Amino acid sequence: MQNYFTKINRVHNGLTRPLLGFSWRNYSVKYDNITPKINEKIGRNIFLKPNHPINIIKTLVEQHFLKSQPDFKVFDSFHPKVSTKQNFDDLLIPLDHVSRGPSDTYYYDENTVLRTHTTAHQVHLIKDGHKAFLVTGDVYRRDEIDATHYPVFHQMDGVKVFKQGDQKDSGTETLEKHVELELKKDLEGVVRAIFGADSQIRWNVEYFPFTDPSFELEVYFNDHWMEVLGCGVIRSEILKNTGYDTSEYVGYAFGIGLERLAMKVFEIPDIRLFWSQDNRFLSQFKNGEFTKFKSYSKYPACYKDISFWTPSEYNDNSFYELVRDVAGDLVETVKIVDEFKHPKTQRVSKCFRINYRSMDRSLSNEEVDQLQWVVRERVAKELMVELR
Ligand code: PHE
Repeated sequence: MQNYFTKINRVHNGLTRPLLGFSWRNYSVKYDNITPKINEKIGRNIFLKPNHPINIIKTLVEQHFLKSQPDFKVFDSFHPKVSTKQNFDDLLIPLDHVSRGPSDTYYYDENTVLRTHTTAHQVHLIKDGHKAFLVTGDVYRRDEIDATHYPVFHQMDGVKVFKQGDQKDSGTETLEKHVELELKKDLEGVVRAIFGADSQIRWNVEYFPFTDPSFELEVYFNDHWMEVLGCGVIRSEILKNTGYDTSEYVGYAFGIGLERLAMKVFEIPDIRLFWSQDNRFLSQFKNGEFTKFKSYSKYPACYKDISFWTPSEYNDNSFYELVRDVAGDLVETVKIVDEFKHPKTQRVSKCFRINYRSMDRSLSNEEVDQLQWVVRERVAKELMVELR
């Protein structure tokens, strides 16, 4: 299946990004792309607020682990600002990997980013001597805009390091095989604790740069298979770099996306709701309970189209980001509705439909017109597109 680490050549204006021998460091791009709207989210820590749906899922997974394996340590207060070394290099993510690009990642400067996954904490925690831990936090990715994509979301990573001899009791021949079986057993347990003891689940082989073998776990839920987590056996090179003798030690690692689980379990239809300060949302949930979300009314939507000719340096994520920066949570979706290349000039024209809707109130026409006007002004100025 396609994941964040397997998407390798996204198409830009009909051109595939060069990959071989290509490094983001040589590419003339802005390494300072954290907008005020994103900045506002840092430190809100909704995942730490009791009775918040993300906190309910987090607590449940932690308690599930601690119940049978009390040696697991829980970390949830690392700042999301990390080095590119922590987020990418330590995890063997290639220098030319798309996920490193400033079109996908928020950069403070060339060497500092907002973490794109909580796996960024894996290596320093192992180096500090921790052998079993869970680490939760907010993660940031520049992405499209719809009901399930938001530039800030939450992940929980887990790691456990095993030693030669641990496999004895299980009767498994090698430590590697033992670790893989323990990983699958532990994660199946968590997923059953959330979706019910008799839930249907399946394992698929996956790819991540930092684990080998790698897997994803899917749960059959509401008539379809849903991917809930990625995991695998930590690549021995990583353990070696942290100082372990890899003939003696093998570890597992996993990463769970908390929004996806919470959206399914509580039937929350739009990912923006997690950031709502509205009591009609917040008062509906209680730690330890799986109550279904009751929609308190859907205010009318209003859409506006925008069309422009794109310059060669253009990328869609920068456009989405700009729309978010102007309209914040008042934008529900941005969809591309038309795209064509001029046969003579080869210039690419795009038309996007921006759907505006507030979750807490009705928007006036004037307000939406004003937002759209600002989007148009800024797109023309900052992305150097030619409006049509
Ligand atoms: N960091 C991966 C992601 O964000 C998930 C993962 C974590 C996979 C740990 C394997 C091991 O998709």
